[in-house]
Amino acid sequence: MKGLILSGGAGTRLRPITHTAAKQLVPVANKPVLFYALDAMRAAGIVEVGIVVGDTRAEIEAAVGDGSRFGLVVTYLPQEAPLGLAHAVLISEAYLGDDPFVMYLGDNLLKEGITPFVEAFDADRPDALILLQKVADPKSYGIAELDGDGRVARLVEKPAEPRSDLALVGVYLFTPAVFESVKAIVPSARGELEITDAIQHMVDRGLNVEPHVVTGWWKDTGKLEDMLEANRLVLSTLEGDVRGELLETTLEGAVAVGPGSRLERCTVRGPAVIGAGCRLSDSFVGPYTSISDGVVVDHAELEHSIVLENSRISSLGARMTDSLIGRECVIARSQARPVAYRFLVGDRSRIGIL
Ligand code: TTP
Repeated sequence: MKGLILSGGAGTRLRPITHTAAKQLVPVANKPVLFYALDAMRAAGIVEVGIVVGDTRAEIEAAVGDGSRFGLVVTYLPQEAPLGLAHAVLISEAYLGDDPFVMYLGDNLLKEGITPFVEAFDADRPDALILLQKVADPKSYGIAELDGDGRVARLVEKPAEPRSDLALVGVYLFTPAVFESVKAIVPSARGELEITDAIQHMVDRGLNVEPHVVTGWWKDTGKLEDMLEANRLVLSTLEGDVRGELLETTLEGAVAVGPGSRLERCTVRGPAVIGAGCRLSDSFVGPYTSISDGVVVDHAELEHSIVLENSRISSLGARMTDSLIGRECVIARSQARPVAYRFLVGDRSRIGIL
């Protein structure tokens, strides 16, 4: 069995981060989202993994390399434009050949990994296996309707009047039978080849599409709120591990501090992770915060946030919460006159002030 991880796409819902970076490389608990997928592949015994890449190919390649660090053999599959999840399958046919494969959306996180589903697929040998999870707002998802015998009857993308609350999770297992379907479908109203249409086509051809309900948490990290929630879910299993230097600093709960970091006169209430080479002073770091390498925090309070590499947060007048701060950003109180807000902010940024 091979793996296919989709790491192209436009990432419009995570702008401005995705203007300059691949959303699959945004870290959750200081580990890029994509690395969880790579680890899940290896844990399931899969070695050959194709990664579909778009405009951010160079960045993804720089982070993942040949895959050997993950125990994988990685091949990059360039997609000329984000023309849909089924289009990503279409362009991967030569690479996938006659092997069954697990398709994994590179911005998704699945608590239980994929091993149980790979095992079920090996045991039952359906033509496809889809993962489903009950959701509170089915109008926002691809939804599966099951018939009286628990078989997949119909798949509907973001239904206006949902007849089921079972959403399609971003992991799918396919036999090569899927290729006939991705070739048969036409682009949807939004101009994409939809994987829901391809799976529906398989159902309509009388193929066996086996549904499995996922009980552990699943998160699509495509938007800020979900990214923060994924961070919260992963951090809730964090174990404390302090490698940096602590001076007059109190740690409460599970806190990880990377090597070369120094915390002076701080309180850190976990779960929270602080990377390597950070400088924190006279500050409070609250629960569910991930601080990447090289970040400076002084005279500031932050919680439930993700701060990327080499940013500086300094002398804020209020606690910072629910935030995603990109790389090399500066958020600081200024002494300059006149007293005023001064911004240099990229396109589609969001700033909430007191
Ligand atoms: P989506 O989150 O559905 O799409 P997107 O990345 O374009 O984001 P947005 O809706 O915010 O603009 O994609 C799920 C995953 O699949 C993600 O990792 C990107 C990847 N993908 C591709 O590799 N090729 C594609 O054609 C599409 C649509 C997505």
